[in-house]
Amino acid sequence: MIKAFLFDMDGVLVESEEISAEAGVAYFRTLGKDASPAVFSRYLGGGDRAFFNGAASDLGLSSPPYSYEDAAAFFHKEYERRIRGVDISLPGARELVRSARKNGIMTAVASSAEMWKVMLNIEAAGLSPEDFDFIASGGDIKRNKPFPDIYTLCLVKLGVDGSEAVVFEDSLNGIRSGKRAGCHVVGTGSTFPVTMLEEAGADAVISGLDAILSAEDVSTLLEDKPVRMRRHIITNEAEKKRAVSLAHKAREKAYAPYSGFKVGAAVVSSSGRIYTGCNVENSSYGATICAERNVITTGVAAEGRGFSIDMIAVASEGESPAPPCAVCLQVIAEFASPDTLVILSASGKVEEYRFRELLPKPFVLTRI
Ligand code: THU
Repeated sequence: MIKAFLFDMDGVLVESEEISAEAGVAYFRTLGKDASPAVFSRYLGGGDRAFFNGAASDLGLSSPPYSYEDAAAFFHKEYERRIRGVDISLPGARELVRSARKNGIMTAVASSAEMWKVMLNIEAAGLSPEDFDFIASGGDIKRNKPFPDIYTLCLVKLGVDGSEAVVFEDSLNGIRSGKRAGCHVVGTGSTFPVTMLEEAGADAVISGLDAILSAEDVSTLLEDKPVRMRRHIITNEAEKKRAVSLAHKAREKAYAPYSGFKVGAAVVSSSGRIYTGCNVENSSYGATICAERNVITTGVAAEGRGFSIDMIAVASEGESPAPPCAVCLQVIAEFASPDTLVILSASGKVEEYRFRELLPKPFVLTRI
């Protein structure tokens, strides 16, 4: 019986990379260096010391003027200032933590970050320390993930066995840590491909915590081996809303310098995973990839030839929502059924179709 959910923080409950990188850039500016946030992304997840020392050496800084202690003190203040009032929660995080508690499942955070950061992040996720039975930070253990120590500590504190706990992790070392502590591990997120999460030992893989509708789903997910998410019930209004909002979020990432027309798409596959994509234009116009084809290739790369579409949401701008172009409809046809839900959304207006209404007669290859 599952008695506890143990959550990694960054990349599972919250996305704090951007704020960390911005605060890091601000520190190096005080030393007259213009660091790009990309410098930091190389070192994220390895602890603050690796983060600053690595970036300093990339920027050709030696000490003095650089000192890790100064950097850490500046970073703490700057991070605190920048995170105030910002919501960095990942979709589904609050819902799953609260649903667990309601179902009598204990909850803990197991983060390699320092305690001050963990506390700020919990708050910026719209949660509070009271939502957790135990909070473990990097300062509580000597050996970081992939060692099992942080998860073993959680198990001891909660008085449960590894077989009674589910770890949620987005990183390969985090998954290894959870498995070595004897826990069930659910791999989340899109930082690593599904196959890598599985190779690291994940018992199940989901796109994010929002792929689980409630705490009760987790047991089903773990029983449903080999490593498949239970099929979603996507006729549910909440599911549709979530897909539309993810499509709009993906739209913000669009690369559309030529047309200025940004499109985002989200697909719920029949394995219950959610993928997103945006349009990516090219100076050779014909090489442009639409948002719909982008999200579909992402889904196939993750799930292989078994990939199929239960629902696709497309977000565009303007007064009325843009339907997928004819090329994209033909590509959708390859992975959809006539009943697949297609939701089109623009500026607050939402239209819902069955795929067959948009493309009644797709091309089907018949060999002659
Ligand atoms: N676009 C899409 O992303 N999806 C469609 O189905 C139609 C068009 C993009 C491609 C291009 O970047 C921009 O919209 C203008 O054509």
